[in-house]
Amino acid sequence: MSYDRVRGMNDILPEDVAWWQLVEHTIRGLSRRYNYREIRVPIVEHTDLFTRGIGEGTEVVTKQMFVFPDQKGRSLALRPEGTASVARAYLSAGLQTTAPFQKWYYLGPMFRYEKPQKGRYRQFHQYGIEALGSLDPSLDVEVIAYAWTLMSELGIGGLSLRLNSIGCPEDREPYHEALRAHFSDSIGSMCADCQRRYEDNPLRILDCKQPQCQPHIEGAPGSAEYLCDDCAEHFAAVTGMLDRLGLSYAIDSRLVRGLDYYTRTVFELISEDLGSQDSLLGGGRYDGLIESVGGPSIPGVGFAGGMERLVLVLQEREKALEPDRIDLFVAGLGDAGRKAGFALVETLRRLGLAVEIDHRGRALRKQLTLANNLNARFLIVLGEDEVTAGTAKLKEMDSGEEHEVSLAPEAIFAALCDAPVSDGRDGCGCEGCGSS
Ligand code: HAM
Repeated sequence: MSYDRVRGMNDILPEDVAWWQLVEHTIRGLSRRYNYREIRVPIVEHTDLFTRGIGEGTEVVTKQMFVFPDQKGRSLALRPEGTASVARAYLSAGLQTTAPFQKWYYLGPMFRYEKPQKGRYRQFHQYGIEALGSLDPSLDVEVIAYAWTLMSELGIGGLSLRLNSIGCPEDREPYHEALRAHFSDSIGSMCADCQRRYEDNPLRILDCKQPQCQPHIEGAPGSAEYLCDDCAEHFAAVTGMLDRLGLSYAIDSRLVRGLDYYTRTVFELISEDLGSQDSLLGGGRYDGLIESVGGPSIPGVGFAGGMERLVLVLQEREKALEPDRIDLFVAGLGDAGRKAGFALVETLRRLGLAVEIDHRGRALRKQLTLANNLNARFLIVLGEDEVTAGTAKLKEMDSGEEHEVSLAPEAIFAALCDAPVSDGRDGCGCEGCGSS
């Protein structure tokens, strides 16, 4: 009996992991520069956290959550996103009283029961940042600037930023009324979900993807016209600071997001390389979330993006990544050569070098092919003669140059680490050199 993958849940094979590591490395470096610290939250939470945090009427909660009872019958859910969990973690740690201002980032798997397609999966991975504890518009702009910088450091162009303000809960009522008035004649010909949304939360209609609803949505009033003075001022401050930073954006006054916790600023970054209307990342302000999950009134702003989508765009632009080189391949000949080689390799690895040896008892020619495939910088062939003499030829694979080295591990280590490296780094880049 063989097993299939669970639909919508993918393996990430080593060839692709290199892309993921590139993105993760860039995110960690950028987070350090922006002073966002990593938080790791559980994959499973009480279902209620998401129902209350994300909103009962949202697609994510009504249709997409993986929910299951634990052994005592309590309802648990696989996290469909990170923000509600971050809000819960903040409260669990008591930070609302001890250190209310926090800037965090996270990376990890999320789960949504969606129809799988390119860039949309049931297990997917998000990278995201959240800044909690300030209403200052500079924080909205910092979060957007982080997202832009991340994309530019990864070399992704063809981006557009869609921006809107959906105001505060007080602005919602007049806006809802305006939306109901707009849709009142057409709602009968719109999808069943929109008919439900018309009563419960007409803002959600703007997020509908059904083709039959689009013509009616196109002429709907925008939220920016219904902002109170404070929200309008906040939005003007955000756009002013974006202008000052030279970050271009398009105000889309009908942009709403799929989760109910948003207030004021919302945004999405779209890439022309993704080839669909899906966004590369999205986020905004959520000044009521912490309160809605049981805490005091503490504001927040952040964004999250899908790793898979980002990797797809990167792969679209550049087909292959230069694989990591190993420092040395030790080819063993005969029993004595293989045994001595194995012991040598182990010691060199402990010294910090990336070293490989053949584990399948293959002939020298096959071992040399393996050394080439691994793009080894150096090669040593160890036979009985070399073992007896205690020296061997160290071959630099790029130049073909050879010179005799002692088989003492420290001597090999020194020879490799002194060798100039073709990519211009000092030292070989191994941990031992400390120059990676
Ligand atoms: P979201 O728009 O639901 O927002 O998801 C953010 C990003 O996650 C999307 O733009 C997309 O790149 C990726 N994504 C979502 N669903 C899938 C899927 N099924 N497969 C692959 N990628 C997917 C949030 O989750 C909010 N928590 C963002 C946020 C953080 N807002 C404030 N802080």
